[in-house]
Amino acid sequence: MSPAELLALPKVELHCHLEGSVPASLALELARRNGLPAPGTDRGLYEFETLEEFLEDYVAVSGVLRTPDDFTEVAYASLAAGARDGLVYREVAFNPTNHPGVDVADAVEAIGEGIASARAEFGVDARILVAVNREHGADVALGLVRRVVELADPLVVGIGLDHNELVGPPEEFAEAFALAGSAGLGRTAHAGERGDADEVRRTLDVLGVTRIDHGYAVLRDPGLLRRSLDEGVHYATCWSTSQWHAGPAGSPIPPMLAAGLDVSVSSDDPPMLGTGIGAEFLAAGEACGWTLADARAVVLAAAHASFLPGTEKAALLERLTREA
Ligand code: HPA
Ligand code: ZN
Repeated sequence: MSPAELLALPKVELHCHLEGSVPASLALELARRNGLPAPGTDRGLYEFETLEEFLEDYVAVSGVLRTPDDFTEVAYASLAAGARDGLVYREVAFNPTNHPGVDVADAVEAIGEGIASARAEFGVDARILVAVNREHGADVALGLVRRVVELADPLVVGIGLDHNELVGPPEEFAEAFALAGSAGLGRTAHAGERGDADEVRRTLDVLGVTRIDHGYAVLRDPGLLRRSLDEGVHYATCWSTSQWHAGPAGSPIPPMLAAGLDVSVSSDDPPMLGTGIGAEFLAAGEACGWTLADARAVVLAAAHASFLPGTEKAALLERLTREA
């Protein structure tokens, strides 16, 4: 399999953050346009070393997204970049509570316009995951999910949970996630990126998620690994992030795949991590020794684990088969 073949492969990604998809140059431009100071600290934007520093930049860049046009532009530009790497479908997460003063309904509509333009121009499609910032606590989460359920916008196919997992334990969000589940929304959560296997287990137990974002800690617990295989838990992993947190043993993704787990590969926060969905596939493919069929299987795993309604999921799977 050549790099060109892998880049051209039609791809699906389930784990990509809207606010993490803003190139530094665009973040500066949006700040200027909105009359705000340049985002970031003395460190230099996206020059982080720890997850805390990363999240500091992420929140700072969230703050320069102010108008509906800003959301449209970021959604469009990040999908255009994905389409150049063969992306055909993405579930894009965004954190409404990182944008005080911006109405969720307006943001969803604006992101939808960016998706529609990218679809018309490049054939790439996307849906939205409303992400709960766990650092904002249980009440804010519940209020947000109530609003999303009320909105009942078909573009929003699920909810997620992100930010510092060492701060907001899953139990705090049980009520919000139960409400989302009863409204038919898909559920995913970041866990086991820095937290341990017990955190992943509790996330499965109390939040009713079918997917885990990252979840690398699963490798450290044979019982959880067995349970994940039995229950078909999907792990939406990201190559660059997995390497960033990996110890000397290297990325946990090759052993996760070798263990038979249901795994997909996404780009997480592409410009923040200096990556893209194409680069993620190239790096994973090289480390795992993928054939084109292996890479395709990872894409199909993502499509099967997507939160698209049945007929739309069938259409995506049909497209992937047709274009492969
Ligand atoms: N981990 C935790 N929170 C995040 C991430 C991540 O990878 N990306 C955006 N918010
Ligand atoms: Zn993430």
